[in-house]
Amino acid sequence: MDEQRGFTTEQVHGGFLPDTAHGARVPAIHMSSGFLFEDAAQARDRFAGTDDGYTYTRLGNPTNADVERRIALLEHGAEAILVGSGQAAATVAFLGLLGAGDHVVSAASIYEGTRGLLLQNLGRLGITVDFVTDARDLDAWAAAVRPETKAFFAETIPNPKNDVLDITGVAEVAHRAGVPLVVDNTLATPYLVRPVDHGADVVVHSASKFLSGHGAGLGGVVVDGGRFDWTTNPERWPHLTQADRALGGASHTDRYGRGAFIAYARDVVAARVGPTPSPFNAFLLRQGIETLSLRVERHVANALAVATWLEAQPEVTSVDHAGLASSPYHDLARRYLPRGAGSVFAFTLAGGEPAAHAFIDAVELFSRMTHLGDVRSLALHPASTTHAGRTPEERAAQGIDDGLVRLSVGIEDVADLVRDLERGFAAVRELAGTDREARPAPATTGTALGLPTSASAWVPEAVEAVAGAVPAALPVSAAVPAAVPVSGAVPTAAGAR
Ligand SMILES: Cc1ncc(COP(=O)(O)O)c(C=O)c1O
Repeated sequence: MDEQRGFTTEQVHGGFLPDTAHGARVPAIHMSSGFLFEDAAQARDRFAGTDDGYTYTRLGNPTNADVERRIALLEHGAEAILVGSGQAAATVAFLGLLGAGDHVVSAASIYEGTRGLLLQNLGRLGITVDFVTDARDLDAWAAAVRPETKAFFAETIPNPKNDVLDITGVAEVAHRAGVPLVVDNTLATPYLVRPVDHGADVVVHSASKFLSGHGAGLGGVVVDGGRFDWTTNPERWPHLTQADRALGGASHTDRYGRGAFIAYARDVVAARVGPTPSPFNAFLLRQGIETLSLRVERHVANALAVATWLEAQPEVTSVDHAGLASSPYHDLARRYLPRGAGSVFAFTLAGGEPAAHAFIDAVELFSRMTHLGDVRSLALHPASTTHAGRTPEERAAQGIDDGLVRLSVGIEDVADLVRDLERGFAAVRELAGTDREARPAPATTGTALGLPTSASAWVPEAVEAVAGAVPAALPVSAAVPAAVPVSGAVPTAAGAR
């Protein structure tokens, strides 16, 4: 890779290998279960690993490999494994590290599916987990470590509370305990933060979300930073450090050095468990990645504007967006997320669940969906859906109140989004029988937030906040000053504050 190339260049060109057969500019979709051997000797060599050509798509496919190279570059990782979903990525990463009797220390604020994976599925295999309630409390991470602890796990931007992770702080505690930090970077994407640069060792993604953006197919990825030294405490990682017959009696660390984990995860875990994505889905994912930075710029700008606007609504008791100065995670967002604190966050309505349901039923542009990171804006009521399996006490401990609404803000024109949210507030007011006059309809649509002078009267707070608080300092706007209206409008949330 040319180290000088910027993120956007790399998301379009990174890892591209010319098609020597036809010169196709866009790599082909190799929908083939298997690959021909020229002769028996080649078949033997491919099975022995001395010829690195393809054999069978579960073990490797050129389309999938193309996407793996690109994501590894974007994440500043050494190597990536593409799989069929985010849950498959977490499973492959955990099974590549853990065995019966091992223990994980995890942030409590993680995706419910991953929590279930750790507690139920891995739990049945004899793997235990302890959760750190406040991930900012580094002493709590250290206190949870046991002799059998083999991994720390957390998300860079958890949902729905937007409670940004102190990546370096947690990585340092993990490394002092001699274990790797695995992070889920789904909601940040490498455009907002590259966890490996801050000390994380393994990065997983649900590529179904922002990396794809189009919401047309699932995907997942495991990225290895390639820095963790598995030989420092070799007895902790016998599957990596002891002789393996498939490697001719060498160990994974003998053969691959610091790449031992990802080689094992690919050749021993993924190849056996079989979470291989269809090459067609890999192609769709790559199409999404090529516009990642452009979409995320718009996502974070829209989200900050919406969050700012929401904070001014009398029916709202709190807005959980780390780009806001009111957020207890604002300093962490400034440190780790200078381009913005993502676009998945929550706000809480004073009217509890009835108000939240009325709100969600009234919006028309926001889709009622359990999905995130789509170009379309999405809304969900966690207490009665994703977190319904938790007790009220557990939800309260996590700050998931009955009136909390989760938003995944898309790339639509922000004026249209605010107008749609206003429909939700009108329904909340009607439910409560309050007599607050609806704000006037916008005079214009589309560029309201981007152009403070022509902004609609009904989003003045957001305009002031974005235009006033973040004007000059944004890396994005500085990099692309005139040409991109969005960058001028929305520079970046946290970085400017
Ligand atoms: C942060 C996070 N990680 C992982 C997943 C699981 O991803 P997938 O649905 O692709 O399996 C999700 C799904 O919502 C998620 O939000």
